[in-house]
Amino acid sequence: MTPIPQPPGEPAAAPPSATSTPPSLGPSAGVSPPLSSADTSSSLSSAGASPSLPSAGASPSRPSSAGMRRARRRDRQVYLSSHPLLFALLAATRRTPVRKLGSTLLVHSPEAFRDGLTRIPLDRTAAGTTGGAAGDLTGGELLFNQDGADHRGSRRGLADALSAEGVQRLRPIWTEVLDRRLAPLAEGTPIDLVDVTAEMAGATAAALLGTDVDPRALAAAARSAAAAAAREHLPGPPRPGARRAARTATAHLTDLLTQPSTCPTPASASTDSPTSAFASPSATASACASASAPAPASASASADGSALAAMLAVAAVNTTVAALPRAAAWCADADLWAYAESAPDALTSELLRVTAPTPLLPRVAAAPGTLGSCPVDAGDRLILVARHAVDAHRTDPCPAAPAPPQVAQLVFGAGSHACPGARLARLQIADALQALARHRPRVTAARVDRRSALPGWSRLILAPTR
Ligand code: HEM
Repeated sequence: MTPIPQPPGEPAAAPPSATSTPPSLGPSAGVSPPLSSADTSSSLSSAGASPSLPSAGASPSRPSSAGMRRARRRDRQVYLSSHPLLFALLAATRRTPVRKLGSTLLVHSPEAFRDGLTRIPLDRTAAGTTGGAAGDLTGGELLFNQDGADHRGSRRGLADALSAEGVQRLRPIWTEVLDRRLAPLAEGTPIDLVDVTAEMAGATAAALLGTDVDPRALAAAARSAAAAAAREHLPGPPRPGARRAARTATAHLTDLLTQPSTCPTPASASTDSPTSAFASPSATASACASASAPAPASASASADGSALAAMLAVAAVNTTVAALPRAAAWCADADLWAYAESAPDALTSELLRVTAPTPLLPRVAAAPGTLGSCPVDAGDRLILVARHAVDAHRTDPCPAAPAPPQVAQLVFGAGSHACPGARLARLQIADALQALARHRPRVTAARVDRRSALPGWSRLILAPTR
């Protein structure tokens, strides 16, 4: 059985028979509401975002059930082509909110999913978990594997850059990419949305980190590093060379981020931009970089800085490259484009819910507890199935009556480790769907990415219909 490889740091989930290692402390509860792009539209023009994004107005007709079935069938391919057995196991157990198989708990219900992230103390450094993989690969303390005051300090370092204002500062970066890369659609020429998304995510990550590294090179390096890490963590006998390949890919990414920067991107030029604590050494060392970005105090601070920058690039790029093409394919197949104009936030939220880009969160309990009615022992492995917690497998997307935010937001986790990039991700996807909508594109070709860390497409060709 092969697992669904995991994202930014969501490494491959170990199989139910896998053993695990124990303790450390876990997070507390708290689901932050999604940002409405309507909330932010007034600052869009002042932030210099593209004026060419379409405005609201269309009144969408009810999506056809044939279109919805087509969308679901296509999207299921991203799991079935790569992980049919895991998909089948999870589908077979999902009627029980929590199922314990040996020392592994398969967690499906929204309540148990949330409790798994907020009430059960988690071992953030255990092998086979996101934090374990992040620390193992880079040797650093990287949010995912941190706890307590250290973790809060790291989160504070990101808070400004990923705040509502910080995201607005970054917005012109991705709207410029969208304007330029979607322009061929207006001429009737198809585009590969995976390639466009990679550039958009790479450019945004580079701006966030205050480096002027080539966006496509950054995206390619972040995707390779995540894919190599996921392959290394596949269950089964050790794969010769997998560890070396993962280290080489991570080193390449880190090298890119430590290259001397010549000039900052527009977002990092602002004195209150980049993410001071997360700015890559290239940015902090650069004469062009923000004056507010502190230079690394020592070699070890510098190493930590580059490891954090690499982790952030991996987190931002891989999730976006998985999420947007899947959302757009669903939108095209089910003909939901009119909602991108009239209700972009609700559409984005529903498409994120049904695609659940990080479908499994592998975690390890650090102390005993209870999930659903199942006892949890220290060292038990928790496979938290986001896809089922948000009812992605059963309820079609309905932008006219979207799932409540407390449910929809679970695709970004919960508690003190909940995704800090959720606001950025939602706005990027909403902008991209809006920009695509005016061409009413349809999918003419799609290829599953069998190597990527997250289920997704390696190629998604969209052709305009108007
Ligand atoms: C659709 C896009 C995205 C999805 C579905 C997603 C999902 C997630 C999930 C499920 C987690 C784990 C949360 C938990 O353990 O409770 C997470 C953590 C994280 N994400 Fe995202 N994410 C996305 C985009 C981003 C972006 C754009 C960034 C950066 C700008 C980012 C940065 C992070 C970081 C740094 C963490 C670790 C947080 C911590 O441990 O404190 N993510 N993400």
